[in-house]
Amino acid sequence: MTSTTYQPETGRRFHISTYGCQMNLADSSTIAQSLLTRGYVRAEREEDADIIILNTCSVREKAEDRIYGRLGEIYRFKKERPDLQVAVVGCMAQRLGDELIRQVPHVDFVLGTDRQFELPDVLEGREGTDRVMTAFGHEDMDAIEPIKETPFSGFVTIARGCNNYCTYCIVPFVRGKERSHSPDYIVAAVRDMVAEGVVEVNLLGQNVNSYHSGDTDFADLLLRVARETGIARIRYMTSHPKDCSKKLIHAMRDEPKILPHIHLPIQCGSDRVLRKMGRFYSVAHYLRVVDYIKEQLPNVALSTDIIVGFPTETEAEFEMTLDAVRRVRYDTAFMFRYSVRPGTLSAREFEDDIPEAEKIRRLTKLIQVQQQISYECNQAEIGRVHRCLVEGTSKRSQDIIRVRTETNKTVLIANGSPTIGTIVPVQVSSADAFTLHGELVV
Ligand code: 5AD
Ligand code: SF4
Repeated sequence: MTSTTYQPETGRRFHISTYGCQMNLADSSTIAQSLLTRGYVRAEREEDADIIILNTCSVREKAEDRIYGRLGEIYRFKKERPDLQVAVVGCMAQRLGDELIRQVPHVDFVLGTDRQFELPDVLEGREGTDRVMTAFGHEDMDAIEPIKETPFSGFVTIARGCNNYCTYCIVPFVRGKERSHSPDYIVAAVRDMVAEGVVEVNLLGQNVNSYHSGDTDFADLLLRVARETGIARIRYMTSHPKDCSKKLIHAMRDEPKILPHIHLPIQCGSDRVLRKMGRFYSVAHYLRVVDYIKEQLPNVALSTDIIVGFPTETEAEFEMTLDAVRRVRYDTAFMFRYSVRPGTLSAREFEDDIPEAEKIRRLTKLIQVQQQISYECNQAEIGRVHRCLVEGTSKRSQDIIRVRTETNKTVLIANGSPTIGTIVPVQVSSADAFTLHGELVV
C-alpha cells in the first residue's frame, strides 16, 4: 500500500460511520488517517460530506439490515447531489461484493476487508483499482498504520482474520485466515503511541490467544509490550477458551500493566451445543479456566459472549447456559439470538428450528439473570478504590467526569476536575447494573 507518494487532494470532505466490533473502529481510524494524509477533510455530518463511507459488520443479519437502512437514507443525499460518492467497506462489503451494487445501485465502491485501505487510490481512480474489490492476499500488513482512538488511548490490531470456523460465524469468511503482526512491529507501534502521549493500549485480535510470530506467543508479546514500550496500561481482546493458557494468566498476574479484565466468550452452557458450534472445549474445561483465572487474579473482571437459540438447543440446554452464567458470575455479557449467516457450516447443515419468539424469550430471560449478576458485582465495588483513566465527561453532563477502572468499568465522578488522559484514584460510592458512581480520592 502506498500512502505518501501522491499529491494531496484538495479538501474533499468525507464522513465515516462504523458498525460492529473494535477491530472495525480501529480500521475506520486507519482509513480516516490515510484520507487525511492525502488532503481530504473530515465532515462532522453526512449531509456535509462529498464521500460517505460505511464500515460494515456481517456478524448477524440485524447488523446488515441496519446498513441497508442507512443506505436507503443516504439515497436521499445522492439524489440531491449526484456527485456524492458512497463507499461500503469492511465485512459486509467482503461478504456481498458485486451483489451489494446490484441490490443498492447508488453505492459507488465496495471494498472488502483486505482492500479497504486502498480507498484513497480507488477514489482517485488510480490504475489497478476497481469499483468492487474483495480479493484476499493484497493487504500489506505492516503498512496498516495502528491508530490512536483518543489522544491518550490507542488500538493496535495484533492479528487479523480467524482460523477457528465456529460453525455459526461469518468472520473467517469475511476477514480471511489468521495472520499476525510481528512483535517488533507491535512494540514499535506502541512506542510511537507512547511518544505521542498514549497511556493505554488495546491489543486486538479475533483470537489473541492463538497469536504467534516466530517463537513469540501472546503471553511473550504482552510482556514485551509491557517492558519495552513505556506504556502504562494494556488491555486486549478477544480470548478463545480453548487456547487461554496458564502462561498467559501468569503473565497477567506478574505484570501489573496488563489490566485484569478478560473477555472470554462461552457461547453456551451445553457440551452438545458447543460441539455443534465447533468450539472445541467442554463446559467443564471452561469452568476450570475460569476458576484458575479467579484464583490467580483475584481482582479480575470477566465478560463473555452468549448465543441463545442455536439450532436444536433444547430448553434444558438453555437452562445449562443460565447455570453457567450463575456459576461464573460475569461482570458483563454480550448476549445474542442465533442468526443464520449464509455460507457458514451451520447455515448449510442445520435447520434454524428455534422459532423467533422462543429465541426472544430465552434472550430476555438470560438478560434478566445477567443484569441481576452485573448489579450484584457492581454493588460489591462500593467502597473500593480503583486506579482509573480519565476519559472525558459523561454523555449527559459536562460537569460529570467519566473514568475507566482497570477492570474496564465506567465510573462517573462529580467532584474534582482531573486532567483527561491521567490516571487517578477513584473510590466507588454507589452502583447500578450498568454504571458505577464514585469520588476522586484527594
Ligand atoms: N448469530 C448470533 N451471534 C453470533 N455471533 C457470531 N456469529 C453469530 C451468529 N451467527 C456472536 C458470538 C461472537 C460475537 C462477536 O458475536 O457470540 O462471540
Ligand atoms: Fe467467529 Fe469463532 Fe473466530 Fe470468534 S473464534 S471470530 S466466533 S469463528
